[in-house]
Parts: sequence; structure tokens; C-alpha cells
Amino acid sequence: MTVQIDHALEEIRRFRPSPEFAAQAVAGTRLYEEARADRLAFWADQARSLLQWETPFTRTLDWSNPPFAKWFDDGTLNVAVNCLDRHVAAGNGDRVALHWEGEPGDSRDVTYAELTDEVRRAANVLTDLGIGEHDRVAIYLPMIPEAVVAMLACARIGAIHSVVFGGFSADSLASRIDDAEASLVITADGGYRKGKVFPLKPVVDDALAKAEGGTVKNVLVVRRGENDIEMADGRDLWWHDTVAQASNEHEAQGFEAEHPLFILYTSGTTGKPKGILHTSGGYLTQVAFTHKNVFDLHPETDVYWCTADVGWVTGHSYVVYGPLANGATQVLYEGTPDTPHPGRWWEIVEKYRVSILYTAPTAIRSFMKLGRQIPHEFNLRSLRLLGSVGEPINPEAWIWYRHVIGGGSIPVVDTWWQTETGAIMISALPGITDLKPGSAQVPVPGISIDILADDGTPVEGEGGGLLVVTEPWPSMLRGIWGDPERFKETYWEKFGDKYFAGDGARRDEDGDIWLLGRVDDVMNVSGHRLSTAEIESSLVAHPWTAEAAVVGASDETTGQAVVAFVILKASQVEHVTDPSDAAEELRRHVATQIGAIARPRQVFIVNELPKTRSGKIMRRLLRDLAEGRQVGDTTTLADTSVMTAITEQVR
Ligand code: WTA
Repeated sequence: MTVQIDHALEEIRRFRPSPEFAAQAVAGTRLYEEARADRLAFWADQARSLLQWETPFTRTLDWSNPPFAKWFDDGTLNVAVNCLDRHVAAGNGDRVALHWEGEPGDSRDVTYAELTDEVRRAANVLTDLGIGEHDRVAIYLPMIPEAVVAMLACARIGAIHSVVFGGFSADSLASRIDDAEASLVITADGGYRKGKVFPLKPVVDDALAKAEGGTVKNVLVVRRGENDIEMADGRDLWWHDTVAQASNEHEAQGFEAEHPLFILYTSGTTGKPKGILHTSGGYLTQVAFTHKNVFDLHPETDVYWCTADVGWVTGHSYVVYGPLANGATQVLYEGTPDTPHPGRWWEIVEKYRVSILYTAPTAIRSFMKLGRQIPHEFNLRSLRLLGSVGEPINPEAWIWYRHVIGGGSIPVVDTWWQTETGAIMISALPGITDLKPGSAQVPVPGISIDILADDGTPVEGEGGGLLVVTEPWPSMLRGIWGDPERFKETYWEKFGDKYFAGDGARRDEDGDIWLLGRVDDVMNVSGHRLSTAEIESSLVAHPWTAEAAVVGASDETTGQAVVAFVILKASQVEHVTDPSDAAEELRRHVATQIGAIARPRQVFIVNELPKTRSGKIMRRLLRDLAEGRQVGDTTTLADTSVMTAITEQVR
């Protein structure tokens, strides 16, 4: 956090939009004026102009029962029709929706007409399998067109999808299936990652053996990896035997604007991931609005590429719903940035003449490490706009991104938002805002943000505080699946009817907002949210562990890294001859239990943990240690000698 503030204080560069860019920009300053004049009328206009409604709405916002908002709630629409059929009906069926690129180099272009057909077929199959409105479908797929098809097929029939990132373990998948009581899982035999096939269907089998609810009746399997898998009779079906054979005739019905669209699990401050619930009309309005205006989308000419996996919210809002609602042509890439060579992404930009690229600071920093000669081998001149999301982008990385990838003169937009907010909330608008590296800058039109002190008073001037959203917004989460109390407690208890985001922030002298990182026990590793409590419970579940404390330590490439301090059980200590073996075993254990993204960078085996008199672990001191700093004030520790002992063990 201190590092970020230092950067913020030193940063004085400004980049005015070029006159050429400004002249063709989709967004105009009138958006701010209209939103300021009448916020609700502004959003109603966006909902009407960006989407196709079956029944027009007459009510914009119902906030009579906070924090449960309803947007456009007497209107009906079909989300899949908005993303597909209407573009075909408008004569754009031949436009490429997806330039899909598999990791091994196979590729496939899918037009809007083809994608519409495929979604209709899949919708028919889901209905045949007994999936109806409100039923939950777990999706566990690699980045292949079928992932998009599966999500939209659910939307088309009013079923609720819960996409689980393909890197999550069987345990994580099982707990998500149980929590949502999913009745169908859509998966693949396997997918490609780093030149190898990673199995998915076997993980599903494992998860279903572990899931306690027994709610899953069928598993629909896409063939991709061609790895050996088992198919359970009567339960498991191949996609190519069902979807490919189904009829492409499917009449879509309109659903209420507040009809649930998806659940997406994200880490919170406790061990149990939260199922963030999003609904239809408001969500689609704000993702379409931001996708169009923040990325300056010209759907007839742009080729857009968001590198996020559909397993994360960025993949939901800015790979699936936003771009397709806007009729964009986009790249969908299955694999890793460095396979088979470190220039793979830039090769893809050159091949498809990508004009808008949206990625995460952690990726930019790893490319910086490799050096500019790699992107320089490719023609990147098609790029005209760059975006960043997931964590604060340090000014050095911003400048590198603009110069080395963007050729030095194109806009870079840093977008702040969360799984809970559903869509971008803070960002410059290209062509309008003077850009400032390192700052997410200003709320998007129609969004009201403030920075409050802990006691709820607004922070005046340039001090730091807690980021809140002061008015309900169309794509806001509608709750936590099955847990309304946790929804209220987590986001609304602190400041009443203002949404508490969990991020620290400050404003500079121009009023631009700088994000300062999480203020709770949520870590941000490579732009992914991980909970310290969740990793601690996983460590404690290992038979060797007596106690564990996890901190997020700053890391040059991944932003933060997971560092764990573990006390072994007395009964185990004598068996563990080499602490580094124990550390390795525990790292492996976390990766198997939660997923590889949660694997600690380091596990330190220690004899004690620093605790206050009331028994609370002082993570701040462990973070000092993990980041190689002088350990801070230890006077509130029950036993002040503990930190000296731990420091000796760690160094
Ligand atoms: C962080 C990802 C600074 C923040 C879309 C937030 C950011 C969490 C930025 C949400 C940004 C995301 N600048 N911090 N531009 N974007 N964050 O739910 O801490 O995976 O609360 O959503 O990421 O992560 P999530």
C-alpha cells in the first residue's frame, strides 16, 4: 500500500487524447452532462437504446427495499436474443463474432449466424434434459466457443449458469455445485494449457463423487482434448451426439429484467466463497454501455480482444455479454501467453489485426520482464486502444504498455470494478479524459462514487479512505446466493445504504481516484481474488498442520503473492526431517485443494505465530517479514519475543 501511495504522489504525467482519436470517439462529454442532469433518466435511455426489450419497462429503479435493488423491473427481455438473434435480424449474421484460436494453433471463425444457431441447438438440448427457468447449470470448460454457447444457452431458457474456472480443483468445483444445487454440469474432456492437455472431465467425476447434495443429474461433455475419459451410463452425454444433432429452431421468450442470469463465486473474507448473483436487464445495460464507451467500440471495424478467462467476471462481462450485446468481433484464445513461444499474444494481435486489447497488469509486467524485443517482432499497428483491469496498474507498466505495445500514442484505460459491481465503475473515457498513468481516474457516467473515513464522513481533499458507491447502479449484484444476511453484512452494514467495496482509495488534487488495494483479508494475486481465510483453512485441513497464517506479500510480477506461516503438529515434527519438504508438501496440498492459482509462493514452517492478547494473529507483522522489511511495532503482542524467534526461523 505504501508503495502505491509513493507512486501516486510522484506521478505527474498527463496524456491528452489526440485530436484524431477524439474526433472519432463514440463517447462524448454529453454523457456526463446527461447523467448529471438526471441519473435515472440517463440509465433508462441507455437501457432503451442499447437493448431490445420484449416488453418495454416503465419503472427505472425500485430502491424501496435497500439493499435489494430492482432495475427496469416491469420490462422483459431475452439476454441471448440481445447478444445474438437481433444482430442476425439486423443483417449482420455474416459478421464474425468469435475468431477462436486454440493453443495448439487450430482456429475457427464463428459468425453471429452460426453462434445463434449453435445456442439455439444447445438451448433445445438443455430443455430436453429437463433444465428450466431458475435451474442452475455449472459450466467447467476451457476457453473454447462452446463455453460462450453454454452460457448463452442457459440465458436463452432462463436457467442460471455458474461458471467455475477450469483451474479450480475437484473440491472447489464440488462445493460450488453443492452451494448452487446445480442439476447439470457442462464440461469438456480436457483443454490445452502450456502445450499439454489438462483433464477436466475426470475432475468433474471426482467432484461429483465428493459433492454431498447429489443434485447433478447429467454431465454434458464437449470433445476437445481427446484425452481418455470415462462416460457414466445414463448420466454423461457427448455434446457432439446431442447439441450438434439438435434442431436450430428455438423460440426465445422474454424474461423479467430481474430474472437471475448467473451466479459467480468469488473469495471473501471468510473461508467460504460467495455466490455473487447477477440479473438480466440492468446487468446487460451497464456491460453494454461500458463496453461501448470505455473501449470506444466501432463494431463494424474493430477487432476486440479481452484476454480474461470466462471463469472470471471479466470473462462474463467483457468476453461474453458486453461484446456480444454490442455486436463486436472478438478474439477468443484458449491457451497461455507463452505457448509455444513468448510472443504468442502478439502473434495473435498481428494475425487478427486486433484493435482493442483488454488485459491485466500482471500480464503486462511479465511481458516487461521478458523485454520489448519480443512484441517488437510483430506488427502491432492495428492496436488503437488498450485497457487494464484487475489491480492497480503501476505507472511504469502503464507507460510500457502504451509505448511498447501501443506504439506510444494510443489511449490506455485503467478500469476499476469487481465481481459484485458486474461492470466497469471507474475509468477514463477515451477521447475525453486526459489520461493519468496509475490512476483509474473518474466514475463512469451515471455512477456515484465517494471516499469515506472509517466513521462514514466523506474524506475531503487528498486524504485516503474507503471506496463506496453511494447510489444503486444497474449491474450491481442482487445478493449472495442463498445468503441474504451475508450480503447485508458484507457490503451494507458498514455505511448504511452506501455500498462498501472493500478497497482503499484516495483522490488527487484534480479529483482523480487512485485505488490503494484491499482493506480486508482478500489478496489479489495476478488479478485474481483469494481469501487468506480460505487458504488458511486448506492448510489446517492437512494432517500435519496445527496452525496457519496467510498473508499477501507484494510481488513484482503477480502484484501480491501468497505467503504462509505454518506451525506443525507436535506429533508430526519428529517425522519431518527437512522443513523444505514439508513446505513443498503443503504448497502442493493447497494447489490440489483449491486450485493452482492459490498455491503459496512460500510456506515457512515456524514454531509460533504473532498474536495479540486476545489471540488475534497480527498479519501486518508477518507481511513485514514476507516483504523483507524491518518488522513494525510489536508492542501489542502477547509475547513480544515471538517475532524475533519467527524472524530467525524465516531468514
Ligand atoms: C481489484 C475484477 C485497482 C480491487 C474485475 C477490486 C482493481 C478487486 C482494479 C475485484 C483496478 C480490480 N485498479 N484495483 N483497475 N480492478 N481491482 O472481483 O481490489 O476479481 O476490489 O473483479 O480487484 O476483483 P474481481
